[in-house]
Amino acid sequence: MSRSGGGKGDGRDPGLTGRSFTAAQSFLLDVKLRWTHDMFPALRDRVAPCPDAVEGVAALLENDPDYRLFAWFERHLQRLKYSGRYGLYPYHAGQRDRLEASLSGEDLPAGMLTLSPDMDLPRYYTGTDIHQHPGGVWSDPIAGFVYERGARSTTPTLGAKHADLHTRFTDKVASDLNGAPATVFDMACGFGKSTMPFAATYPDADIVAMDLSEPCLRLGARTAHEAQRHNLRFVQRDATESGLPEDSQDLVTSTMFLHEMPPNWVEKALRESFRVLKPGGRMAHLDFYLLPDAFARFIHYGHGRRNNEPFMRPLAEMDLPAVLTEIGFTDIAIKPFEESPGALAAENRSWRFPWTTISATKPG
Ligand SMILES: C[S@@+](CC[C@H](N)C(=O)[O-])C[C@H]1O[C@@H](n2cnc3c(N)ncnc32)[C@H](O)[C@@H]1O
Repeated sequence: MSRSGGGKGDGRDPGLTGRSFTAAQSFLLDVKLRWTHDMFPALRDRVAPCPDAVEGVAALLENDPDYRLFAWFERHLQRLKYSGRYGLYPYHAGQRDRLEASLSGEDLPAGMLTLSPDMDLPRYYTGTDIHQHPGGVWSDPIAGFVYERGARSTTPTLGAKHADLHTRFTDKVASDLNGAPATVFDMACGFGKSTMPFAATYPDADIVAMDLSEPCLRLGARTAHEAQRHNLRFVQRDATESGLPEDSQDLVTSTMFLHEMPPNWVEKALRESFRVLKPGGRMAHLDFYLLPDAFARFIHYGHGRRNNEPFMRPLAEMDLPAVLTEIGFTDIAIKPFEESPGALAAENRSWRFPWTTISATKPG
């Protein structure tokens, strides 16, 4: 990649302006919506009545040209979104100098951002270009910007209301709590999209936002500072070994974290949630878990392969109620989550992630 820093192109391609980038990304999203609303329901019709096992669905669909086309679109729309001529990566790389300079953090209040640049990153994390993001969300100083822009269309049906997902989750968690928490721990906060609604809902809480990715944390701290959310502390660290004191948190939360790790790490994350929670404290994770039938399971497992998310299937196959019970949690609630009004209604036949809330209490 060029490091021209010119702001209008990537140094190789004078055609890559903000206008061409925006138009191309909007075109890709329109195609993705066609995939979501038309191609997906057509495939579903092929497997009615749905076999009981995922292998039965695979036998019906795996060699079907329409399924192959569906899979090709899924893989390659995402590839174009990140790495194509008008992709997120070349567009942001063309503005590298300006973007990197904006993350210096010089004006941040003391303690708002704690980095550990020499820390060892886990192999599961560095071994995959997650979401097909070149270099993952951690290896390039501009990765936070690339991820932030990409995350606007992770759930294509939300369109411009992409942030509503996090707000709805925060509202749901808040409605389940008895009163405002004084301490909140957001595991794997990324660039803070999951943390900011908690900071807004609980302006008096002391909130720790932890992640492995320095570029994402730098962007998160900058965004929070600009929004005057100074009750947030961004920390670079493995959230499954957070270093937070035992019995210190009223609320532990995460969004789209568990499916990014192998099962033994998921278990570690849940044990860490238990350890740091105060007795009576509540944990609430939003992730992809409950799959209504074998067709949904087949599609979800394929999505994991095609989107470079190798631990989606292992998480979906974990016995989470048993793991949570064994750790000692009570009031365990694992429920489908409606990411937008009507998303869970029977008449909604479009593709969607199997959003699920995984909540439990540390007994008092
Ligand atoms: C899909 S992103 C979600 C980010 C954010 N929660 C959101 O909803 O926008 C997953 C995040 O998990 C982080 N991550 C993965 N493993 C981690 C670990 N062991 N400790 C802390 N962060 C981790 C990644 O760096 C990434 O930012």
